[in-house]
Amino acid sequence: MICQIVSQLLLFIIIAHTVIDARAIQEDTVGQLVDGITNENEEMFATVINYRHRFEHSNNIKALRWMFQQHIDAEEVYCEICHILLPILRILIDANQTERIENVTLEICNKFGLVLDVCSGAVHEYKDAVLQVIYLTHFSDKALCSLALNCDRQTDYPALNWTVAIPDKKPPPQPPKPPSPDSPKLKVLQLADIHVDFEYKPGSEADCLEPLCCRKGPPLPGHPGAGFWGTSLHCDLPYWTAQAILEYASKTEEIDFIYYTGDTPPHNVWNQSRADQLYSITTINNLLATTFPNKMLYSAVGNHEAAPCNLFPTPIIKSDNISWLYQALADSWINTLGLPNDTRESILRGGFYTTLVRPGLRLISLNTNYYASDNYWLFVNSTDPLNQLEWFIQWLQYAEDNGEKVHIIAHHPPRTCFAAFGWNFNRIVNRFENTISGQFYGHTHRDEFNMFYDENDRQRPVSMAYIAPSLTTESFLNPGYRIYTMDGDYPSSSYWVLDHRTVIMNLTATNLYNRTILQDEYNVRTAYQLENLFPVDWDNFIKRLEYDIDGPLMSTVYTYYTKSHADGSQCNHVCRRALICDFKTARDDDPYACDSVPPFA
Ligand SMILES: *[C@@H]1O[C@H](CO)[C@@H](O)[C@H](O)[C@H]1NC(C)=O
Ligand SMILES: *[C@@H]1O[C@H](CO)[C@@H](O)[C@H](O)[C@H]1NC(C)=O
Ligand SMILES: *[C@@H]1O[C@H](CO)[C@@H](O)[C@H](O)[C@H]1NC(C)=O
Ligand SMILES: *[C@@H]1O[C@H](CO)[C@@H](O)[C@H](O)[C@H]1NC(C)=O
Ligand SMILES: *[C@@H]1O[C@H](CO)[C@@H](O)[C@H](O)[C@H]1NC(C)=O
Ligand SMILES: *[C@@H]1O[C@H](CO)[C@@H](O)[C@H](O)[C@H]1NC(C)=O
Ligand SMILES: *[C@@H]1O[C@H](CO)[C@@H](O)[C@H](O)[C@H]1NC(C)=O
Ligand SMILES: *[C@@H]1O[C@H](CO)[C@@H](O)[C@H](O)[C@H]1NC(C)=O
Ligand SMILES: *[C@@H]1O[C@H](CO)[C@@H](O)[C@H](O)[C@H]1NC(C)=O
Ligand SMILES: [Zn+2]
Ligand SMILES: [Zn+2]
Repeated sequence: MICQIVSQLLLFIIIAHTVIDARAIQEDTVGQLVDGITNENEEMFATVINYRHRFEHSNNIKALRWMFQQHIDAEEVYCEICHILLPILRILIDANQTERIENVTLEICNKFGLVLDVCSGAVHEYKDAVLQVIYLTHFSDKALCSLALNCDRQTDYPALNWTVAIPDKKPPPQPPKPPSPDSPKLKVLQLADIHVDFEYKPGSEADCLEPLCCRKGPPLPGHPGAGFWGTSLHCDLPYWTAQAILEYASKTEEIDFIYYTGDTPPHNVWNQSRADQLYSITTINNLLATTFPNKMLYSAVGNHEAAPCNLFPTPIIKSDNISWLYQALADSWINTLGLPNDTRESILRGGFYTTLVRPGLRLISLNTNYYASDNYWLFVNSTDPLNQLEWFIQWLQYAEDNGEKVHIIAHHPPRTCFAAFGWNFNRIVNRFENTISGQFYGHTHRDEFNMFYDENDRQRPVSMAYIAPSLTTESFLNPGYRIYTMDGDYPSSSYWVLDHRTVIMNLTATNLYNRTILQDEYNVRTAYQLENLFPVDWDNFIKRLEYDIDGPLMSTVYTYYTKSHADGSQCNHVCRRALICDFKTARDDDPYACDSVPPFA
């Protein structure tokens, strides 16, 4: 989220740097500027800059200043201004004046009272990529603004409405059935969003102006100081807390293998180098390997692994290249965490892979950074980057042909990705509903889940995804992890999740007594009175929530959503309804998601 805000802010600031009152500039002025750019760059620039004074005194800017200060996402305002200012930025690009952007942007940050370090760092990190994207994209200025700032529906743009071919001959649906009670079970640990901050400083300012706190300075009078074991504000985890939680899991849990859905580095996204990310990845993966010796650990790549955060260039981008990351991940995942070497080729190519976890259980780890709308490179071309979905479908077909079950791990829940991805993914999940027996994601840091329904009748639940709680406290959360009990492993086991339990660190108590206090937060079948954890059970559960949106069960769901940092009283009717809508669809831009959720209590 911070990453998104910083990069959106940045896109906007870069555009706004031309500091023109949107309403003051006439169409013909733009025309003149475009015509005159060849040999009158200086003059053009001066003309642009001359509008600055008026811009600064306009109401839009007053609104913006307020927005920045309040950290409110008023997307329509961004879009309106973006639509008018983006052409000016194009002029600067065409006129080879982009090196001035950095300086002017910093002045603007200064004027808006944004933290200069954050602002200059963000501009420095994202500028080149944003300019390249604007230069390369086929989208019109209006479309680009609308898409980057989420003002329009993505499916309204044909270039974003691509489809992948899905094999026919779908076998008749065979919904999972409970195994016999005495059949063998597997225990799987899911870790999500570790986000260790190596610069975490106990006693430092915990309520700072930067996006990430608990790293420097004594607290201002009346402000909280960073707790020794962590702080549930805009702070990431101290290393020693992550270590203590992992050691606790290793000592107290029976674990067969581990899924880790990514996001290892901290949230200081305005000041991260490739070396910083590689340090985080190798240090934490080494910690995982020493804490869980002889356990297989299967990872997926998070948006924070890249530097700058979110930006995963596709192979058609010539000015940037992410192979530095995939090289390191392949080495670390294979040499440190024990992935078989035959996964190397696809990890090096795109950060995704498949491998057999048990006979009959295939794992597919997807790199969903190629579908996240915060990855601005996708505005150059978002059509199935690296043919990853085509690859995915081929492996699902292989699994179906060979009687294997498939677990999917990935960082972003499909709902948070580009609509086209979500819609294609939903079709794929529909087609292979008998084969896919588990989906595990992270990224939201909250304890959530997502339903997949029959794409035709929109009623029959066909699949279901777990979104596991983060280790990090960022933001307003306790740290936590998840243990699944699964069917397996024995010949023809279904590998469906049968139950799960969430463990949290009570950060208040841990800091108060200065010793790590971990507790079982809840056991899902008991807490929610679920007979099984199959799609039909989760669908019934949602119906119970819908039936009593303001009731105690939904309060409990919200409490667990925050890992018991908050309670149900902090989520009003609108908040509850939004949460239920989110549970009900795995697609962005789904016009039917909320149809059956009653608007009033
Ligand atoms: C743009 O400016 C850079 C240096 O600032 C210069 O090397 C380059 O040749 C210029 N390109 C054009 C097309 O003017
Ligand atoms: C940016 O500002 C710095 C100092 O304020 C100055 O040295 C530098 O020349 C400026 N760069 C451009 C391209 O104007
Ligand atoms: C997207 O594409 C699909 C299939 O090509 C088409 O049925 C659908 O109407 C399109 N959606 C929009 C909003 O254009
Ligand atoms: C991070 O900040 C430090 C100190 O301000 C600076 O020296 C360094 O270059 C910055 N790194 C990045 C990647 O921006
Ligand atoms: C990316 O860079 C590496 C070397 O750093 C190079 O081997 C590889 O071909 C590049 N990939 C692309 C797609 O340009
Ligand atoms: C791992 O696989 C690569 C090819 O993907 C091969 O070049 C390398 O020798 C293999 N390493 C080991 C230790 O088998
Ligand atoms: C995007 O890539 C796809 C597949 O690689 C290609 O078919 C399509 O023409 C490209 N679109 C644009 C606008 O370049
Ligand atoms: C965490 O500990 C505090 C202090 O001991 C206690 O008041 C609170 O109820 C605990 N929270 C949970 C979720 O158990
Ligand atoms: C809390 O315990 C740690 C060691 O576990 C110690 O280093 C630290 O000083 C203690 N803090 C307080 C406030 O006692
Ligand atoms: Zn994260
Ligand atoms: Zn993430």
